[in-house]
Amino acid sequence: MNNQTTITLNNGTKIPQFGLGVFQIEGNEATKKAVLEALAQGYRHIDTAHAYQNERGVGAGIKESGLAREEVWITSKLWPSDYGTAKTTIAIDKMLQRLDTDYIDLLLLHQQFGAYKEAWKEMELAVASGKVKAIGLSNFESNRLEEILQIATIQPAVLQVECHPYYQQSGLKKRIEPFGIALESWYPLGHANEDLLNEPIFQQLAKKYAKTNAQIILRWHIQSGNIVFPRSTKQNHIQENIDIFDFALSNDEMAEINQLDQNKRFFTLSLAEQEAQLSQFIPED
Ligand SMILES: NC(=O)c1ccc[n+]([C@@H]2O[C@H](COP(=O)([O-])OP(=O)(O)OC[C@H]3O[C@@H](n4cnc5c(N)ncnc54)[C@H](OP(=O)(O)O)[C@@H]3O)[C@@H](O)[C@H]2O)c1
Repeated sequence: MNNQTTITLNNGTKIPQFGLGVFQIEGNEATKKAVLEALAQGYRHIDTAHAYQNERGVGAGIKESGLAREEVWITSKLWPSDYGTAKTTIAIDKMLQRLDTDYIDLLLLHQQFGAYKEAWKEMELAVASGKVKAIGLSNFESNRLEEILQIATIQPAVLQVECHPYYQQSGLKKRIEPFGIALESWYPLGHANEDLLNEPIFQQLAKKYAKTNAQIILRWHIQSGNIVFPRSTKQNHIQENIDIFDFALSNDEMAEINQLDQNKRFFTLSLAEQEAQLSQFIPED
């Protein structure tokens, strides 16, 4: 699929704008299968995390695909239980082993709590030693984003957050734009929310372009400049989701979809609740 688009990050590397997310794909076998299917369909970008407990499946899928390592973009994320001076470097080495690779294209701090400043500094060291090419943040929507920007020697390349037509993140985009930080959308299909998927505007445009509602939403992300990696384990959805590079929404159609923005998140925990709840979880190595 040569017509896939890329985004040039603020460190000069080019990330495929579209990929496969593997959140909630249970186990390494199921993950390997989804990754193999996606790579066979032309995907060249996989988004995983230590917390998903399936990095080994990602590494195995890429190896088994026969593609050269540099043809596939791997993003993974560090969990707060691994934040800390020296601790984070050890965690990165273990992650490289799980992914069965000698470098990670993009490494993110998964959550905005714990010893995140120390972890950022360790990630900068990993860039210097070549273990990681680009570094970024996930879920840093509070002023902890600015705390990182102040201490960073290497500015974050991306910020990965919930983003879909009901929650378009226009305010956050304004905050990150001066730093050249790209926005990555999680829950790009609203985590398969029926109300979102069945919005009349998507039905109408799907009919016009002979696409599905999900494809219209994904195309809107691409034209909005978002990096996007919908998750699926179904062959037909994996195939369908990447088939969005042969048509374009008009400016008026983009504007009409932009009207759906209603500040509606599907993940609604406050920062304090996230900190209390998520810090209970410690991923296995
Ligand atoms: N950084 C973070 O904290 C964070 C949080 C959440 C997610 N993420 C990342 O973002 C990725 C995507 O998020 P997500 O998986 O939660 O939500 P999502 O991609 O918005 O939605 C996934 C759901 O949509 C369904 N689906 C996929 N393609 C479809 C299609 N063409 N038509 C209809 N339904 C379709 C999938 O079911 P089927 O399997 O049946 O296709 C699945 O139930 C994750 O995998 C992960 O990489 C990051």
